[in-house]
Amino acid sequence: MRVAFVGKGGSGKTTLSALFARYTARQGGPVVAIDADINQHLGMALGVEEDALPRPMGAHLTEIKEYLRGDNPRISSAAAMVKTTPPGRGSRLLRLEEPDAIHAGFAAATPDGPKLMVTGPFSEDDLGVACYHSKVGAVELYLNHLVDHAGEYVVVDMTAGADSFASGLFTRFDLTFLVAEPTRQGVGVYRQYRDYAADYDVPVAVVGNKVHGPEDVEFLREHVGDDLLVCLRHSAAIRAMEQGRRSGLEELEPDNAAALGVLLKHLDAQEKDWPRFGRQAVQFHLKNAGAWANRATGEDLSAQIDPEFVFGPTRVSLPG
Ligand SMILES: Nc1ncnc2c1ncn2[C@@H]1O[C@H](COP(=O)(O)OP(=O)(O)OP(=O)(O)O)[C@@H](O)[C@H]1O
Ligand SMILES: [Mg+2]
Repeated sequence: MRVAFVGKGGSGKTTLSALFARYTARQGGPVVAIDADINQHLGMALGVEEDALPRPMGAHLTEIKEYLRGDNPRISSAAAMVKTTPPGRGSRLLRLEEPDAIHAGFAAATPDGPKLMVTGPFSEDDLGVACYHSKVGAVELYLNHLVDHAGEYVVVDMTAGADSFASGLFTRFDLTFLVAEPTRQGVGVYRQYRDYAADYDVPVAVVGNKVHGPEDVEFLREHVGDDLLVCLRHSAAIRAMEQGRRSGLEELEPDNAAALGVLLKHLDAQEKDWPRFGRQAVQFHLKNAGAWANRATGEDLSAQIDPEFVFGPTRVSLPG
């Protein structure tokens, strides 16, 4: 299952991504946490020292593309592969339970179990539709080639910005948690996201954060309605983690820990919709090809789409 944490700057995306990844890893399943935000802080939040961070995916796009395209005859070279280029027959697919060059080369261990992958730092200039070298594109390629199952988790700490809408990254998840503080700005980002996501059947749930009391919950409830899944309150334990004083999950207030359990349960309850996933991969690839990618690569990238390729776990059909 793949989940993104999005929200306004400072709302708590990184904090909740890290807590959720640690909590989920503790339940036993493999967890990959990916830092795809402009400000790269997820490593720190997962207790990884600066010098133990993994190699940044965004700085090795060619290596990643070279691996993923495998011997897919529709992709002429790594240079012709853009962030939306979908897998086809011959592409290398990724699995969380099996070693491969991408996980071996770009994932680092963290103290509480999740593996960490990072895009590496990027700037506003790296964002935008016409960005061939988009660092976040590495995450999109990863998710497009990943075949994940129930009980396996990818948690992405991400900006809620226009880039993920333009490229289709926001459609690559089974669920998106929108982190909202109980403020007008916090719920404003929610409305934008919801309006965009609604056209694409993208499931979104709101996680209230830094809530101080019943008025805050009431405010969120009023503006977000039934999309409000759960709230985490403003937490002394989280503040202490931020200050580097202590970091055990067991220090978390019981109601905040229970809220993490609600998030996991909600994610586990999502139906994986591989047909939607495949349809939208194609849809956004065609959109990008027309908007800029054909021009950037000098090829007609619509030819990269393999109509016979089936997204998701493929069943081997037995004869007779
Ligand atoms: N429930 C909470 N209780 C107390 N402090 C919190 C809580 N959630 C987040 N914080 C604090 O709020 C600050 C911002 O959180 P965080 O860095 O996770 O936000 P972000 O959305 O990832 O921000 P950015 O947009 O800068 O990446 C941090 O100092 C964090 O420790
Ligand atoms: Mg952050």
